[in-house]
Order: sequence, then structure tokens, then C-alpha cells
Amino acid sequence: MIEVQDLRKTYGQGAEAFEALRGVSFRVEDGEFVAVMGPSGCGKSTLLAILGLLDHSSAGSYRLKGREVSGLDDTERTLFRRETIGFVFQSFNLLPRMTSLENVALPMTYANVHRRERRQRAAELLTKVGLGDKLKRTPLELSGGQRQRVSVARSLVNRPALMLADEPTGNLDSKTSLEILDLLGQLHAEGMTILLVTHDSRVAARAQRVLHFSDGLLVKEEAPS
Ligand SMILES: Nc1ncnc2c1ncn2[C@@H]1O[C@H](COP(=O)(O)OP(=O)(O)O)[C@@H](O)[C@H]1O
Ligand SMILES: [Mg+2]
Repeated sequence: MIEVQDLRKTYGQGAEAFEALRGVSFRVEDGEFVAVMGPSGCGKSTLLAILGLLDHSSAGSYRLKGREVSGLDDTERTLFRRETIGFVFQSFNLLPRMTSLENVALPMTYANVHRRERRQRAAELLTKVGLGDKLKRTPLELSGGQRQRVSVARSLVNRPALMLADEPTGNLDSKTSLEILDLLGQLHAEGMTILLVTHDSRVAARAQRVLHFSDGLLVKEEAPS
């Protein structure tokens, strides 16, 4: 699914330049559940933005589903991202004035899906994540865990092969975190490839493999017992 070779990312230029990724190489196989761990500032979000085709690397190779990404133009990247990747963020990123149904249906608008099918598919996905009775609620009328379920449902609308999650339980209490981790575990069991960023070793323990980052480098790889 993912193959990166000597990936580098430099922010800024000249005396201001800062190398957030300093030559990182790893693979993620189809269907794997991998966690990326490391302290704040070690480059986790930078890595995820590059893997998610939201930002460009400065050097190195990135192959996603066998396709070299570095040479793609912005339009190609956007299309490839939309059909391949689902994102879940720590801060949910839901639109506050929209209902759960509308929030989940929104990404399909860009994909030219008919309104009736959008609403039907959004309702199905919300039911799948356990919110079949909350279709008309707005984010303010939902708990943190329910909001994150909405954002997980939204990440699935274009049937992605890869889910990228940046601290998905970072804003949740420990009981709610477990529910979201169970939901990700269920998606993984159904075949989803997941790459999850966390600084919490209990969260990382859910993954099949943990990549430890420090100062922009991959320093250790382990399979939790
Ligand atoms: N847009 C940016 N411009 C300059 N420096 C940045 C930018 N984004 C991140 N950085 C720096 O790159 C390093 C890695 O950041 P980040 O990837 O967000 O780390 P993490 O997610 O592991 O906390 C940090 O030192 C951060 O300050
Ligand atoms: Mg981060």
C-alpha cells in the first residue's frame, strides 16, 4: 500500500530551514494496521500530510498503491487522494451547522454522487458506526466520541483503501477512546489498511506494528506482544 524511500521534508529556506523528516524508509502492506509513535515535534503530522497527499515531500520516493506520487501534479494528487484515502483527525473537523448526515454526505458532493444516493450512503455509514439514530444531530448535540464516529463515517464515503488517522483519540477520555479504537479495529478486520499516529502507547498497542519516530527519523520498529 505504502512504500517510502529516504523521504525528507524541509520547512522554510536558508538560515530558517528546518528538516522535519530526515530520510525515512518503510513499507505498509495491504491490510496492515500500523501505528506511528513518537514525542511531540518528531515529524508525525508532517509524515501523515505527505502520505495523505496533502503536502509535498522535499526529497525521496513515495509509492502509494504502486504509483510514484512525487511526480503527480495537484489535480492528479487530489483525484488520487479522493479515491484512495480517508482521513480522521484529532479535532474531528466537522462543520458545526451541518447535521451528521450532511457532514458525512459532503465529500460525495465533490465526487458527483446524486443527492439521494449521497444521503442513503451517509445514513448507512452512520448506522455502521453506531449513529443510526443521530442522523439529524449537529456536532454540538453530540458527545466527543460520537463526533469522532461521524468523522470516521465521513472518512469512509469514497470507499478508501487506506485510512490515515492523526491522534484520533487525542481529544477523547479513555472509555470513549476504547470505543473509537474498537471501531478502527472493526474496519481493519474488514480489510482496511490503517496508519495511525499517536503518542499514546496504549493506542499503539492496538496496531500490528509500531514505527517509532524521533527527531524526524524512524528509529525503531516493533510488533507489540
Ligand atoms: N509549516 C511548518 N513550518 C515550519 N516548521 C514546521 C511546520 N510544520 C511543522 N513544523 C515543524 O516540524 C517539526 C515536526 O512537526 P510535526 O510534524 O507537526 O510533529 P508532530 O506531529 O510529531 O508533533 C516541528 O519542529 C514543527 O515545529
Ligand atoms: Mg502532530
